[in-house]
Amino acid sequence: MTEPKRYTVTAALPYANGPLHIGHLAGAYIAADIYVRYLRLQGKDVIFVCGSDEHGAAITIKAKKENTSPQEIVDKYHQIIRDSFEKFGISFDIYHRTSEKIHYNTSQDFFRVLNDKKAFEIIESEQYFDEEAKQFLADRYIMGTCPKCSNTNAYGDQCEKCGSSLNPTDLIQPKSTLTNSTPVLKKTKHWFLKLDAQQEEIKNWLEQTAEQNNWKAHVIGQCKSWLNDGLKPRAMTRDLNWGIPVPQEINGSEGKVLYVWLDAPIGYISATKQLFLEKATKLHQFSYQHRSFENCTENDWEKYWKDASTQLVHFIGKDNIVFHCITFPAILKAHENYILPSNVPANEFMNLEGDKISTSRNWAVWLHEYLAEFPGKEDELRYCLIANMPENKDAEFTWKDFQSRVNNELAANVGNFVNRVAVLTHKFYDGKIPSKINEKDQAIFDEINALTSKVNASISAFRFKEALQFALQISSVGNKFLGDNEPWKLIKTDAQRAEEIMAVAVQICKILSDVFAPLLPQTSAKIRTQFNAFKDTILPSQILFEKITDEQIAFQIEKLNKSKQSNQQLASDIDVTEVSNSEFLPLKPEIQYDDFSKLDIRTGVIVAAERVPKADKLLKLLVDIGIEQRTIVSGIATHFQPEEIIGKNVAVLVNLAPRKLRGIESNGMILMAEDANGKLYFVNASDVQAGYTIR
Ligand code: MF3
Ligand code: ZN
Repeated sequence: MTEPKRYTVTAALPYANGPLHIGHLAGAYIAADIYVRYLRLQGKDVIFVCGSDEHGAAITIKAKKENTSPQEIVDKYHQIIRDSFEKFGISFDIYHRTSEKIHYNTSQDFFRVLNDKKAFEIIESEQYFDEEAKQFLADRYIMGTCPKCSNTNAYGDQCEKCGSSLNPTDLIQPKSTLTNSTPVLKKTKHWFLKLDAQQEEIKNWLEQTAEQNNWKAHVIGQCKSWLNDGLKPRAMTRDLNWGIPVPQEINGSEGKVLYVWLDAPIGYISATKQLFLEKATKLHQFSYQHRSFENCTENDWEKYWKDASTQLVHFIGKDNIVFHCITFPAILKAHENYILPSNVPANEFMNLEGDKISTSRNWAVWLHEYLAEFPGKEDELRYCLIANMPENKDAEFTWKDFQSRVNNELAANVGNFVNRVAVLTHKFYDGKIPSKINEKDQAIFDEINALTSKVNASISAFRFKEALQFALQISSVGNKFLGDNEPWKLIKTDAQRAEEIMAVAVQICKILSDVFAPLLPQTSAKIRTQFNAFKDTILPSQILFEKITDEQIAFQIEKLNKSKQSNQQLASDIDVTEVSNSEFLPLKPEIQYDDFSKLDIRTGVIVAAERVPKADKLLKLLVDIGIEQRTIVSGIATHFQPEEIIGKNVAVLVNLAPRKLRGIESNGMILMAEDANGKLYFVNASDVQAGYTIR
């Protein structure tokens, strides 16, 4: 593949309806920031855009809750969010907002073009209307029972319990969250994007791009499932009084606004326009300069969105996949002249202390609070979130893990190495940097250079967790080098050799500061400052990472527990926007014996197990079910090693229609129990041989 000329990197526009928490950082922004800093250091032409998403029901619901206007909500949270991003060093070239005029114009222009190009069809449909509030209800304003998992608190667009995406009419016993009344269906007209007509085109583009650029399996998986279900026309307008109006000259536009998921991703484009407008007119001094900004014009934004030699990369959380991999590309395609994303390296979710992060339940580590409670320790959190990044599966943040990673990894490894080098340099040479390197130490540099290349390769491939591990290995190598050579002893017997050793050690500090520049920018800068940019004399040694104390951790855990208790008290107040998050799924609707007797479940024994190449989650099993042996592909590879499950007694659904997974035909399904944290357990009757029927 030819080298791209430039990169447009976007990070999901956060809803301006609440402050940021660690889940945001871990889901999209740290990954994007590492990638962008890395590209900049490689001298690439890259822009990094983001902003606040200020439309949609997420905002109006919050305004209602806080008894204020949507405008006040977005003004308030836009500031808070922008501030947290800045303090955490997320290095956007611009942090824009979707309430800006330039964004209104850009979005309305898009709508006009799509309308002219007949990308829409107008469909009259029945939508829920709240007769008491006298208004149509946005999907989020309707709650009811999820038809898939029976969660009684599912929203009209999505069940947060089982993750199904829903239409309001799918809900059993729908209720308006405005008045708690039962909404009625009423006719209304909307502009629907003809996604069905674009099915083949999108499918071909996706398959090719995903394959070529090695997309993450979970992202491809979600896209395939949408495509397999068949794309359906999707409404791009809403009956709401908060949002960007459908252009006035278009017939029937009164009272209609653009669907938030139409205008929000266009926000990436308007942010880019604004960026170049500001660059060209030199309105601001920017922190992240690069060559291409030097003599730019305001029209240069187009290169970043329309030139085929530009790579567009969207960083998002997994709940945004369909919009970035299907809907937005379809919009860009229908508009024509725009490039489509080359990769969408979405992350999964970061949980917190065994529970899903939830804004409404206040189960979160809020960034503005962290910043106040751990001032100057942005990289400590960043480190912990990278080390646990939910790149391919949900991950978990715990305060204990935070403490042990900071103390045992950052402080004990990196901090210790850098500090030892600084202290010894002061002690032996009054802080003057020893520079004579002996050729015989080349092997250590070879080893470190190999690790540096690995860090770079991992970052390029969006494997940030792995990159961090390689980076830490560099300071491990440094620590070992000091320990093996003991310059503090050598100084008495062979001063020249001691100086050579110290010269290598200082070089390793320099390499560490370079390698950390994208991963832990604050730490990188601290090392650089400490070593006076590796010129002549270094500053007196400073501690890079203070230990996190048991008291600090206890305080945080107590704070969380308090919020849990106050939530339990609140739970009795009927809060219709609340999603139940109990340890157990609610019961499913009643069935008849006949429904059950269709299932043929039998005892089995796993006789062989192996990984499925290139599928992180799948194991190929051979299962003895008495009558015969079956090949079954099971999605348990992230939970069990193949070796450990051979010989396991299992329960098998044997009459499930065969399905092909990664080209392997799977004949049946292993039954598993799953706890609230997603941990899996085999369901089995011990001491039973294969082939018995379970009834
Ligand atoms: N506001 C959305 C969310 O927080 C993300 C919007 S991403 C964009 O889930 F593409 F629309 F900008
Ligand atoms: Zn559900």
